[in-house]
Amino acid sequence: MRFVVLMALLPILSSASLPPPEESYKILFLLPYTTRSHRILHMTLATKLADRGHQITMLTNQAPSSKHPNIYEFTHGIRETDFDSVNCFEFLEEMEEALVPPAFIFEAFAKKLYQIQEVKDIYNKRKEFDVIVLDSYMNDVVYPFVHEMPFIVVCGIGMEPMHSAVMGNVLNPAYTPSMQYLRNHPMSLIQRAVNIFRSIQFGFIYKHWETVPVVQKEINKHFPDLPPILELEKNVSLSLINSHYSLDMTQPLLPSQIEVGAMHCRPGKPLPKDVALWIEEAEHGVIYFSLGSVHRGEFVPANYRNIMIEAFTQMKQRVIWKFEKEVEGLPDNVLIRKWLPQQDILAHPKVKVFITHGGLLSSQETIYHSKPVLAIPLFFDQPKVAAKLQRAGFGIAIKLKELTVPLVVDSLNEIINNPKYAKAVGQASLSLRDQKETPTDRAVWWTEYVIRHRGAPALRSPGADLSWVEYLCLDVLVVVHVGIFTLFWVSKKLLALACRANKKKKTE
Ligand SMILES: *[C@@H]1O[C@H](CO)[C@@H](O)[C@H](O)[C@H]1NC(C)=O
Repeated sequence: MRFVVLMALLPILSSASLPPPEESYKILFLLPYTTRSHRILHMTLATKLADRGHQITMLTNQAPSSKHPNIYEFTHGIRETDFDSVNCFEFLEEMEEALVPPAFIFEAFAKKLYQIQEVKDIYNKRKEFDVIVLDSYMNDVVYPFVHEMPFIVVCGIGMEPMHSAVMGNVLNPAYTPSMQYLRNHPMSLIQRAVNIFRSIQFGFIYKHWETVPVVQKEINKHFPDLPPILELEKNVSLSLINSHYSLDMTQPLLPSQIEVGAMHCRPGKPLPKDVALWIEEAEHGVIYFSLGSVHRGEFVPANYRNIMIEAFTQMKQRVIWKFEKEVEGLPDNVLIRKWLPQQDILAHPKVKVFITHGGLLSSQETIYHSKPVLAIPLFFDQPKVAAKLQRAGFGIAIKLKELTVPLVVDSLNEIINNPKYAKAVGQASLSLRDQKETPTDRAVWWTEYVIRHRGAPALRSPGADLSWVEYLCLDVLVVVHVGIFTLFWVSKKLLALACRANKKKKTE
């Protein structure tokens, strides 16, 4: 009983609002290369800031989505950044491990972006803004904007060891898995060695080999006098990280690294009538199925689609499926919609399980709304997120290639009928919701803090000013080793000299 009351109260308790801002600020969001899910995250922050009277200007690759009078969005319209036309299933094999699209995409993008008149206008007016907000991931092309400006970086994909290092906080690779490396805790000796190698390899390839150098080359043509991107990024004032210790790994953080994970999660709102009725009339509960916003239904290969449909015919539950295409011969217990209000569905008590691709935002929503999962990860960070959900006991993860009808049916029945999954995710939900203030309020407070203190230089870690040789004290180690070696060498020589002198004496 206490559990239920607490669940009901927490969202209300935690939405206690911030004191009003001192004045209205002008804030520039630069999101020229952002997926729809990251956009949701940035919009949560932008909307809350706009509600407080600040003026938001937003450069994006997506169609305008906000009707807020204080938010002005403009779309650059460069095709290379259009995720909707990408069929991820075509290069699933090669993409499973890849974390960054090929460099030529960024090259073309950097070339085009600064030729757009509206982008140039905003660039020339950038000093009128009080702060700039950008996404840490794959948005290196916007760094010219932040020259001599205070700026905040949002880590939409969660804790990024590479960005943390830029801020002067190198996360310990003994327990922090690199972005690509899926490992349990604790790692064995070999695993830790591989992890360190992978961490260095990824950072080196991204920053010094493939992505950043090609972007830098294009930037140099437009802005020959600016410091390099890798210098500009070091001047970051604050990072807002899409993680939380109750969801992810606990990490030692700087005061300038603020966890705002699950910022976009909110209590459920009433559902559209037809969907609400469908859910309420489900005698045995409902299964919700969505592969997120990037993987469009039309691209899902028919064999996988048929496995899921066949599995659903064997379930007692009703199924709500977010799918962008008509499907023929659907069983009676399946309802398809092009778009569905995911959080409002997950909030419904009749929903028993969420079949998800294991996107970071979906995984946060399922925990927030306390729903166990069947995860079918596709690529990018999804295998890692899915493995984490399974490890935490929130459900079962299946590889797409291993998908079969009996496996799906058995997994769904296990998740629905064994209470341990719902219990585990329910406990995680409680600790995620039990926070002093909402993650959005925290993000807003820190954003205004950076503005009030003109970049808040006091937050800056001295570690950020050191080269990696200095940071790891490699120079000190070299001096110590050379010192010890010299001492040995000199002693050995002296000893040899003394011996020879002794021998000479004896023979005389
Ligand atoms: C670094 O940031 C501060 C404000 O946060 C700004 O005043 C300064 O000009 C920036 N330096 C460079 C080189 O961009």
